[in-house]
Amino acid sequence: MTSSTIPRALLACVSLAALTACAREPAPVAQDATAARTPAVQSAATSRPAVPATQVAAAPASPALPLVVVHKSPTCGCCGLWVEHMRQAGFPVEVREMDDLGLVKQRLGIPYGKGSCHTAEVAGYFVEGHVPAGDVKRLLAQRPKAKGLVLPGMPLGSPGMEVPDGTVQPYTVELVDPSGNTTAFAHH
Ligand code: CU
Ligand code: CU
Repeated sequence: MTSSTIPRALLACVSLAALTACAREPAPVAQDATAARTPAVQSAATSRPAVPATQVAAAPASPALPLVVVHKSPTCGCCGLWVEHMRQAGFPVEVREMDDLGLVKQRLGIPYGKGSCHTAEVAGYFVEGHVPAGDVKRLLAQRPKAKGLVLPGMPLGSPGMEVPDGTVQPYTVELVDPSGNTTAFAHH
């Protein structure tokens, strides 16, 4: 239940957008409304006639946001909640389940001691742990020279880690620079 839930045409569009985004130097965010609308128009055009255009328009994933690929263990509940958080924020999300996330973290260069329960990739960056979608959007808008964002551990109250009594343990999302050093990116 991963890529199969996303319409094929849309997925192709989004993947292409993500590839283009990471192959290029920091590109200005498309301010042009026509450019932003193009993928939706293409999706509608390539959809089978049986799918009404209104359904395409109502798809939760925003064509302007790149695909988020999430690596998680099949049994992780809070990971699934974070995936929902990202989808609700408009990101198309593909989930890849695996028992050992160590290789993914190693390949991407998640700094030692900064790990969490799941590891995501978006537009050439990694996003480690329960990072709020708003921080990911700011990362994509600013496109700093960096490897990605980390939120070590699993702070209570972060997206996907909400508790019934509303406790929020203050936490800091960190930016990982190209040499692996971290600086504060957002305090919550
Ligand atoms: Cu978690
Ligand atoms: Cu997780």
